[in-house]
Amino acid sequence: AYNKIKSEKTLTMGTSADFAPFEFPVVKNGKKTYNGFDIMVANQIAKDMGVKLKVQNMQFSSLIGELQNNKVQMVMAGMTATKERRKAVDFSKPYYTESESLLVRKSDANKYTTQASTKGAS
Ligand code: ARG
Repeated sequence: AYNKIKSEKTLTMGTSADFAPFEFPVVKNGKKTYNGFDIMVANQIAKDMGVKLKVQNMQFSSLIGELQNNKVQMVMAGMTATKERRKAVDFSKPYYTESESLLVRKSDANKYTTQASTKGAS
């Protein structure tokens, strides 16, 4: 994959752009591009390698197969490194783990206990 990336000066990334804020489509002047956290990280990786990033959008369920077929050279799709998937492909160290939280005033703690309870809140 590395030689192909270098010779074509392009890093082709597979993603499933239905997972904002990690990857989502952006339509600009009738042209569809992709943006999000994963796309930004991938762009930096391509930049560090001195190549261009090409984003190939596909079904989430096709990503591993298309990586195995060499259709794409890497996948970034907010994909969890499960034991099952680790049998098929090689995952990097995790680049994102979540601990961000929504916060409200202590006095409202009992008011907003579920996602539904925040409906119509101001
Ligand atoms: N983290 C979950 C998984 O790996 C969901 C990822 C969904 N990502 C997407 N681009 N649709 O199964």
